[in-house]
Amino acid sequence: MTKNKIIVMMFLCLALIVAGCGTKTAPQAQAPAAGGEQKPADTQKGTKLDQIKKVGKIVVGTSADYPPYEFHKEINKKDEIVGFDIEIAKALAKDLGVQLEIKDMKFDGLLAALDSGNVDFVISGMTPTPERQKSVDFTKIYYTAVQKVVVRAEDKDKIKSIDDLKGKKVGAQKGATQEKIVQEQMPQSELKAIFKISDLMLELKNKKVDALVVEQPVAGAYLSKNKDLVVSDIALKTEDSGSAIAVKKGSPELVDAMNKTLDKLMTDKTIDKLVTEANDQVE
Ligand code: ARG
Repeated sequence: MTKNKIIVMMFLCLALIVAGCGTKTAPQAQAPAAGGEQKPADTQKGTKLDQIKKVGKIVVGTSADYPPYEFHKEINKKDEIVGFDIEIAKALAKDLGVQLEIKDMKFDGLLAALDSGNVDFVISGMTPTPERQKSVDFTKIYYTAVQKVVVRAEDKDKIKSIDDLKGKKVGAQKGATQEKIVQEQMPQSELKAIFKISDLMLELKNKKVDALVVEQPVAGAYLSKNKDLVVSDIALKTEDSGSAIAVKKGSPELVDAMNKTLDKLMTDKTIDKLVTEANDQVE
């Protein structure tokens, strides 16, 4: 029995070797294989979502100067980018089954990076304004904040209304909606637009500007560690500022997939939890 088995096995092996040689020596036998290789190229032509899944990675662009949305934090002696936007980005990547790569850049350059294909999406507390909607697509709004005016604590009693800012310099982040708020709601003040929020706070501390406009959560995060700065009593015209994710125009499947994840995170209140956790991380 065992001998018979061995003979059968040897016969099979021989047959396989012969078959193997056959395909190797016959040039025509390679034709189907070459045809098969066209497959990846075909999927390359698929949707942006297909391409991302095929590569196994999605690249997000953000301006990590915006606690609690996105900011730098040293964790185990390593500089990391954290925040609730980043957690949302991780959840998106996880739902797509791909790795997440984060690219930190100036807020002002985010949409250009999206356009050039340097990043696949942008999450950066970005408000889907009609103007931006002309050049990129947005998901639904996943978080809404209000705008506040920050001043030096010593000026709190002096600067109580928009009128009090007449002839003074007011800071806002370059390329952000706050620039427009200063221009439209404080026409008598001089706008000073600066790339990074952290630098704006410094300008205010160093008296290079007398006030600045930021979203409330961001004001809260910076003010908790800068006791010389406070939120002023100035009432801006209610200017809600929703945040949405931006993707390059023409990828409805990607927007749909992202909206699904956002729906889930909003319905089960995960986003609120992430905001609280991110605020706790602000030092
Ligand atoms: N919501 C504002 C805007 O869309 C400000 C966002 C600033 N984001 C940031 N990561 N610095 O223009």
